Amino acid sequence: MALLEILVCFICGSILLIYWILSKQFSYFRERGILHDKPNFIFGNIKEYKRTKNIYQILQEYYAKYKGTEKIFGFFLYFQKVVVILDLDLIKDICVKDFGNFTSRGNYYNKKDDPVAAHLFNLDGVDWRKMRTKLTPTFSSGKIKSTFPTIVDVANTLVEVLGDMQNSPLYDTDVGIEIEDLISHYTTDVIGSVAFGLDCGTLKDPNSTFSDIIKKALNFRHNMITVLLAYIFPKVARKLRLKTLTGEVSKFFLNLVRQTVTFREQTGTQRNDFLNLLMELRKSGDLTMEEITAQAYVFFVAGHDTGSSTLTFCLYELALNQDIQNKARSEINEVLSAHKGVLTYEAMADMKYLLQIMYETTRKHAPTVFIARQTAEDYFVPNTDYVIEKGMTVLLPVDAIHHDPDLYPNPKLFDPERFTAAEIQKRHPMAYLAFGRGPRNCIGSRFGKMIVLAGLCLLLKNFKFSATKKTQIPINFSMFTLLRASEEGVNSWIFNKESHTAKNR
Ligand code: HEM
Repeated sequence: MALLEILVCFICGSILLIYWILSKQFSYFRERGILHDKPNFIFGNIKEYKRTKNIYQILQEYYAKYKGTEKIFGFFLYFQKVVVILDLDLIKDICVKDFGNFTSRGNYYNKKDDPVAAHLFNLDGVDWRKMRTKLTPTFSSGKIKSTFPTIVDVANTLVEVLGDMQNSPLYDTDVGIEIEDLISHYTTDVIGSVAFGLDCGTLKDPNSTFSDIIKKALNFRHNMITVLLAYIFPKVARKLRLKTLTGEVSKFFLNLVRQTVTFREQTGTQRNDFLNLLMELRKSGDLTMEEITAQAYVFFVAGHDTGSSTLTFCLYELALNQDIQNKARSEINEVLSAHKGVLTYEAMADMKYLLQIMYETTRKHAPTVFIARQTAEDYFVPNTDYVIEKGMTVLLPVDAIHHDPDLYPNPKLFDPERFTAAEIQKRHPMAYLAFGRGPRNCIGSRFGKMIVLAGLCLLLKNFKFSATKKTQIPINFSMFTLLRASEEGVNSWIFNKESHTAKNR
């Protein structure tokens, strides 16, 4: 009996303690007079997340509700409190002027036990700054330019594979071809080749080991509980020495880099790729083998889904906007004929309209729907009484800003004219955030643009894209991913047969 009483007391005590902790947490913004919606006791302010809405729809609604009232509002991602920034000048301060207080993203990583996760995207503070300085020369325009022929090679393979699919007896013009996976394989092959010097061959063999490991590396489903715990309770996760990468993925990349580096060193092989540049940093004692692996790995983590989502949604929009597609194709043909029919880096740079299309795609369908920063010290929000306390995460609601009708009238309309030099000039510099801003912006943006533009150029030159009966209009987005993706299992990315053929290359 006594034992039962103790047990009941313990359970009641625990429930009361949890209730007290959560009440305290959820009263945080109210006590400080910061604008917020009353949170749900379990889900915070994202009750609809994964049920009826994805995170960017939720943020868009809050942004529209609060915009014009205050510079910031409080928000609960489950139990985690974050501050969302509404004001573009304040975003500029955070990203640029006061960046010294916002150098971290606050992502969880555990360098000792999980070294491959200690990459540039995750690193914090001083560690991040040192690594960014070492890697910056790797992303200079000269170095990026030298990888262009490799990208074009893979883009040609993409055209070849698509041509084969189109010529297959199984090809159904009513359905078209599901291109999301195909583009994903294109991006895998480009990054594999440029970052690791590997011919991954996933375009030609979608079921290769490499393809499988990349899926596992980019999809945290295999490690969901750990990743969630690490995200919500990073301090506890650090104490428990949790790893966010599975052993299989870590081992795969560590072995891959070690073997390739050893082979190159023994045979004196030099290649025009990022691994070569990383090897030079290792030789000069700047990076260890594990650090090289982590940085090569981040190419996949940060560049794969962003690049393939951009190209996929770009083709989707062009399938629905034939006039824009035709104008792009005319530009491609004109520029190529001025460059003897060869897609060179210089020819690419002359395709101004194509670049506008890429910008408009990343405006309307920004792959990274919000950007995070963490305060190193208390931050006094200029011209207000608010303080964003030390250690707090701030979110820059990229997707919501990109759909603000005051910045982009009729935001659902796909209109590349929004990105002429004159139009860009008229807008606030923080109105476009697809590649981030300030010293912690996307280090691979030039490379990412090249992947998208080279693929787009050769695809439009060789094929015409249009909607079929299976195309989902408007497109539904996945509710389960933080990066933008189409709804799982939707066969929506289509082009049809009334096209040029691969022979026209
Ligand atoms: C269209 C393609 C891409 C888009 C839209 C994109 C977008 C972004 C965004 C929004 C950020 C966060 C910026 C911030 O916090 O201010 C970022 C960071 C980053 N991106 Fe990209 N990215 C793309 C392609 C790539 C590629 C191909 C690479 C490969 C090298 C890459 C590597 C990185 C890295 C390493 C970071 C972290 C930088 C740091 O923390 O210092 N990205 N990217």
